[in-house]
Amino acid sequence: MGQKTILVADDDASIRALLRQLLQDEGYAVQEAATGVEVVDKVKEASPDLVIMDVRMPELDGIEALSRVKGASPRTAVLIMTAFGSSNAAIRAMELGAFDYVTKPFELDKINHTVGKVFEYQDLAQEVEVLRGEISSLVQTERIVGNSPPMQEVYKTIGKVAKADATVLITGESGTGKELVAEALHYNSSRRAGPLVKVSCAALPETLLEAELFGHEKGSFTGALTQRRGRFELADKGTIFLDEIGEMSLQTQTKLLRVLQDRKIERLGSSLPIKVDIRVICATNKDLQKQVEQAKFRDDLFYRLNVINIPMPPLRDRKEDIPALVEHFLAKHRYSATAQPAAISEEALRRLLEYDWPGNVRELENVIERAVVLSRGQIITSRELPFGDHEGDREEEGDEVPSERSFFKKSVAQFEKDLIMKALRDAGGNRSKAAEMLGIYRRLLYAKIKEYGLEGFPAKSR
Ligand SMILES: Nc1ncnc2c1ncn2[C@@H]1O[C@H](COP(=O)(O)OP(=O)(O)OP(=O)(O)O)[C@@H](O)[C@H]1O
Ligand SMILES: [Mg+2]
Repeated sequence: MGQKTILVADDDASIRALLRQLLQDEGYAVQEAATGVEVVDKVKEASPDLVIMDVRMPELDGIEALSRVKGASPRTAVLIMTAFGSSNAAIRAMELGAFDYVTKPFELDKINHTVGKVFEYQDLAQEVEVLRGEISSLVQTERIVGNSPPMQEVYKTIGKVAKADATVLITGESGTGKELVAEALHYNSSRRAGPLVKVSCAALPETLLEAELFGHEKGSFTGALTQRRGRFELADKGTIFLDEIGEMSLQTQTKLLRVLQDRKIERLGSSLPIKVDIRVICATNKDLQKQVEQAKFRDDLFYRLNVINIPMPPLRDRKEDIPALVEHFLAKHRYSATAQPAAISEEALRRLLEYDWPGNVRELENVIERAVVLSRGQIITSRELPFGDHEGDREEEGDEVPSERSFFKKSVAQFEKDLIMKALRDAGGNRSKAAEMLGIYRRLLYAKIKEYGLEGFPAKSR
């Protein structure tokens, strides 16, 4: 991909010289800058592949320079050098889109290794971009959002294995995006013009699942009134996505193993082998290794499925992705087709960042979708979030399912309050009329008004 260009920025000339020497020996073209302003100018001029920059520099500090570099040349990767222990600057830099950071004093090997990683990633990202361009006219897959290091690992693996026909096992907690990854694998593969067939192994009892997967001849079991082709056949020349593979019975596992070995299937009630050209992608939120130990999952099948494993990181381990995800879901669930995506208050965002997200991205999406509705497309504040009103709200600790339980209660309460506010507004503040509209007794309405602190609602218009 041609010679890579690197801009080395540090106010210390000896460090610049050291890095120049090291990087030139590796075959890179190296430029230097001594101040933040100089960095920005040179990036605008030459758009280098990589900037290696000290956070602390005269005129314009590295953090400010970083955001200007990203603004001027989004494709330029930035490596930040920080003094040992200044993790705040490092975090801030990562938030602003730095690729990575190294702490000073650094080992030259470490620099070399990191630079190598940057370029590997850039090349891969470029390939993925090209592929994306190719597929955009075919099927618009849902965008996978998040640029945290764990997600970058996921993208890297997708980029590497999408085109291979290898079987992939996607693991991770519920709601982490396993299905999205399966889609990305298919639509970035050479099979993308073929079908992507999804089967949830948890949705059906054993016999029906087998009939679904393998198809059946007429009369092969009770209820098989006609002949039918199975999902494996339907996935020919494409991909089959076996979701919740951990729920598959041992008998069906044996049959699946045979399909993977022979690339042939037999319909139920028939012994005629049918060739299938398929790629298999599986997902599970179970620990399959453990299921193997408990003899609930065949070990030979496990090894065959686990050729390539993509572990999906839980959201609590990559909270830096939350702001981008929030923005994505605000746009996705905008209040109406024509409305602008709502905005979110800083306090509300802080709450989202504090929460631990046992339901991962799916839970975040649900929370945002609901908040958009409650805020009617206006600014979302922490009042539209289901986390209660008090700092460190832990009232239901000890309960079996505290977060779900309180989520439910609070959602219902919020909904009730909303209905009451709407009725009061529509009734022009006339409580009898509002009670009538809601179909409840006035006494109950009064009690609720008090409970929710709506005594002055709606404010008298001037
Ligand atoms: N990184 C992401 N970017 C954008 N949307 C995401 C991301 N991860 C998950 N989602 C969204 O969250 C929801 C849940 O994702 P998905 O169905 O892929 O999860 P899953 O891991 O298959 O969960 P489960 O095990 O419960 O089936 C979907 O609506 C999906 O579009
Ligand atoms: Mg799923």
